[in-house]
Amino acid sequence: MKRLGVLTSGGDAPGMNAAIRAVVRKCVFHEVEIYGIKNGYQGLIDGNIEKMDVGSVGDIIQRGGTKLYTARSDEFKTEDGQRKGIEQLKKFGIEGLIVIGGDGSFRGAQKLTEKGFPCIGIPGTIDNDIAGTDFTIGFDTALNTIIEAIDKIRDTATSHERTYVIEVMGRNAGDLALWAGLADGAESILIPEKPDDLNEVISRLKRGVERGKKHSIIILAEGVGSAIDYGEQIQKETNLETRVTVLGHIQRGGSPTANDRVLASRLGAKAVELLLQGKAGRMVGIQSNRLVDHDISDILGQKHTIDEEMYQLSKELSI
Ligand code: F6P
Repeated sequence: MKRLGVLTSGGDAPGMNAAIRAVVRKCVFHEVEIYGIKNGYQGLIDGNIEKMDVGSVGDIIQRGGTKLYTARSDEFKTEDGQRKGIEQLKKFGIEGLIVIGGDGSFRGAQKLTEKGFPCIGIPGTIDNDIAGTDFTIGFDTALNTIIEAIDKIRDTATSHERTYVIEVMGRNAGDLALWAGLADGAESILIPEKPDDLNEVISRLKRGVERGKKHSIIILAEGVGSAIDYGEQIQKETNLETRVTVLGHIQRGGSPTANDRVLASRLGAKAVELLLQGKAGRMVGIQSNRLVDHDISDILGQKHTIDEEMYQLSKELSI
């Protein structure tokens, strides 16, 4: 292959820029031309495509967001949208495409591969909800942003002797909440993978009050429901003064952590290598600190699961 393309799609994640940089520089290293497609699959349909070089990815490794912009495209979910996308790729002479994003983005990459256009996926989402990789790009940074915010909330929770319900992102996955709960010593976590935990949270709060405990932090994954509703219910059932914080999109921004930059650099370079080896329809990932690649269709067919041992530990440590 002599000319490749790269795009970011779906929700942005800190570290996507580091991945773009690695893809571009690895291509330059191998004397392969590289084109950036802006605004995800929508930009592909619209032909929003530009040649990139070493300089176009200078000074971005430390920046959050994505230099290539991102979008969620309904048109690309249709046969017609995919056909238009392939036409554009052919028009620019692009022979292989690297897609950085989450499972929705991989569905698009799979469709293109099935239609004969080779794609490789790089998992980039703060949610850490992709099977076949221990970590997705952006998860570590989002987690650290959450920790910083909760540390601050804990100060005021302690001073006012209040209970806080803090809603974190993650879509249908509980990883951000689980890891944040463990890292921050939260009294309780509520995650979609364990839907029946509310009663336990309430009895734990009541037990805490009996022991003289005056403040608590409960981390709720957005996939469970609204923190406002849960906060009201908890206050009603425990009589504890309860406040709610929804952290929102602050979790998606900011300079990527060293872990995310390194992960993104490794995965970006690996994706280029796979295309140059003639592979297609694969997702690169990291498992037990080793780079791996899996068939995208296998990945899409699997459900990401939480680490049960960690979940158990979070309970044991927050008695
Ligand atoms: O997938 C990343 C994510 O931030 C999820 O955690 C969240 O549910 C969703 O995207 C929010 O999407 P939007 O930015 O479109 O509101």
